[in-house]
Amino acid sequence: MRLTPFLLPLPGVVSWGLLGHQTVALVAQSYLLQKTVIEVQSLLEDSSLTYMANVAIWADSYRNEPGGGFTFGYHFVNGQDGPPPDSCKIEYPKDCPPEGCIVSAIANYTERLMDKKLERESRAEALRFLIHFIGDITQPCNLSLAPIVHTPMSQRLTKKVHTEAFGAGANSILVYFAGKPTNLHAAWDTSIPNKIINTTSPTTLESLGWANAISSLINVGPYKRQLGSWVCSLDTEGDSPEKCAADWAVDSNELVCEYAIDVSPEELNGTEISGEYYDGAVPIVVEQIAKGGVRLAGWLNLIFEGKTGF
Ligand SMILES: *[C@@H]1O[C@H](CO)[C@@H](O)[C@H](O)[C@H]1NC(C)=O
Ligand SMILES: *[C@@H]1O[C@H](CO)[C@@H](O)[C@H](O)[C@H]1NC(C)=O
Ligand SMILES: *[C@@H]1O[C@H](CO)[C@@H](O)[C@H](O)[C@H]1NC(C)=O
Ligand SMILES: *[C@@H]1O[C@H](CO)[C@@H](O)[C@H](O)[C@H]1NC(C)=O
Ligand SMILES: [Zn+2]
Repeated sequence: MRLTPFLLPLPGVVSWGLLGHQTVALVAQSYLLQKTVIEVQSLLEDSSLTYMANVAIWADSYRNEPGGGFTFGYHFVNGQDGPPPDSCKIEYPKDCPPEGCIVSAIANYTERLMDKKLERESRAEALRFLIHFIGDITQPCNLSLAPIVHTPMSQRLTKKVHTEAFGAGANSILVYFAGKPTNLHAAWDTSIPNKIINTTSPTTLESLGWANAISSLINVGPYKRQLGSWVCSLDTEGDSPEKCAADWAVDSNELVCEYAIDVSPEELNGTEISGEYYDGAVPIVVEQIAKGGVRLAGWLNLIFEGKTGF
């Protein structure tokens, strides 16, 4: 049997690959306040150099484990609107199904992490989820239209599915990256980040190197002035964890129409994207990873120390 490109991203597909998630976690580590570090290391029972990175993609394997399937929908939210590039919007709670989505999951696990009456292992689990989901929520292509994973393989490219699912986290847009067939979603998850740091199978050490480079952009570079607008500090009337997460989802989703799918999906389908498209995607990916790291650190600091630290 010949494997079609469609089969590539499905099993164990992640939003942001290992590199993206680890880098978000490692950027975050460098902005944790002292008490936060102590609490996080103690819950994770890990005080190694990469304590948060070590659990950054745990949630992706958990959802495939027996009993973990209920968390599948927690990794994304689907806007129920027309296909990009004309329409990109996420409306919460309307777009969140009763079984939950990334926005409700972030709110739920925030509450559980803060609940001192909960068993320690449940709080540790909540922390592992937050480390992952606050990374996922910055990935533009995971915040688009209806997921094609629920569609039988044979129907995936019919007209109806096409309209419903073409955003589809860009899973249904076939592209080539350096000559290799893949899809747009997987390219944003993995191929683009990997190429940025020139690796094919990233190691934690490489994630650490990238995180350090991104931290210097945050400390002295172009992002410095934006940090206040990236974090959510729950200090305005009407703020809630759900509202913060919903704002983060909207922010990422806008990038789908602004860049990721800024021409019709048909036009993008079948194109080679490791050239000009890649060049334009680089600053977006770097900024999204930086945002994820800053938001995660700010969030955990808020939980454990009552202030974001930014
Ligand atoms: C919150 O998380 C717990 C533990 O994973 C889960 O059992 C519960 O259904 C979640 N609640 C909501 C509203 O998502
Ligand atoms: C988000 O990613 C998951 C896999 O990580 C995928 O199953 C889902 O279809 C994606 N959804 C969107 C809207 O990107
Ligand atoms: C990327 O890595 C390859 C092999 O390790 C090396 O030949 C190449 O020069 C590197 N490119 C850049 C831009 O660093
Ligand atoms: C996308 O491109 C693939 C490969 O060229 C083709 O088989 C498929 O029909 C295209 N899909 C759409 C909806 O244009
Ligand atoms: Zn995920």
